[in-house]
Amino acid sequence: MDKSKRQVVIAGNWKMNKNAEETKALLAEMTTAIKDADCKVLLCVPAINISTAVEATKDSIIEIGAQNCHWAANGAYTGEISADMLKSFGIKYAIIGHSERRQYFGETDKTVNMRALACHENGITPIICVGENLEEREKDITKDVIKTQITEGLANFTKQQLHNTIIAYEPVWAIGTGKTATAQQAEEVCAYIRELLGELFCPMCAQKVTIQYGGSMNAANAKELLSMPNIDGGLIGGASLKATDFNTIVESAK
Ligand code: PGA
Repeated sequence: MDKSKRQVVIAGNWKMNKNAEETKALLAEMTTAIKDADCKVLLCVPAINISTAVEATKDSIIEIGAQNCHWAANGAYTGEISADMLKSFGIKYAIIGHSERRQYFGETDKTVNMRALACHENGITPIICVGENLEEREKDITKDVIKTQITEGLANFTKQQLHNTIIAYEPVWAIGTGKTATAQQAEEVCAYIRELLGELFCPMCAQKVTIQYGGSMNAANAKELLSMPNIDGGLIGGASLKATDFNTIVESAK
């Protein structure tokens, strides 16, 4: 299948940045800067700002997503947010298993899988993050790491659920470091992810999946990364906090 038939998704990950007022101000800049796009444009904001962000972007092409969601429908999980709660705000996308969640909050492939399945049950597309750390890359075990993360993270998915899933390849060593994977390095792993999905589901199913690259993607390098045959979008941290930079990345996807 031709790359042009897959949905391109440029998603910002604001991480733990911007309070209510700053959210409104930055979204006013974003909605002014980003008026047309050939791709889906998404901003994943802190949960507490979802309501503000949904309101601020309601007349724009920007959609609001979440950065996490719990696997249970409800219950005694202090500090967590369910997929049903996200759905009630009209949220259709949630980042799941970001490396910072894995590193600092004990997220495992098992909990990634449970959270992603809860998303599917609620009509939310999980953006499942995978990626090796520097030590794993240096040991040349990147593909083994990715294979485990994909196999366990997407366990028990139906083909339809795969179709409603986005994979974000984010090498941990490239996140927030200014050290981007080269377009060739990123393409190699994204192509491997597609091959793996083909084996786990079916080759045609794999062809339809949007695979993003993330890790220091910015206004200067986005075009080259997005031109690669298996890179269908980006998950952008730092550069999604600046309207002009984020707009340039959106433009690069044209
Ligand atoms: P970065 O973050 O663009 O700041 O490297 C990407 C991410 O963590 O999703």
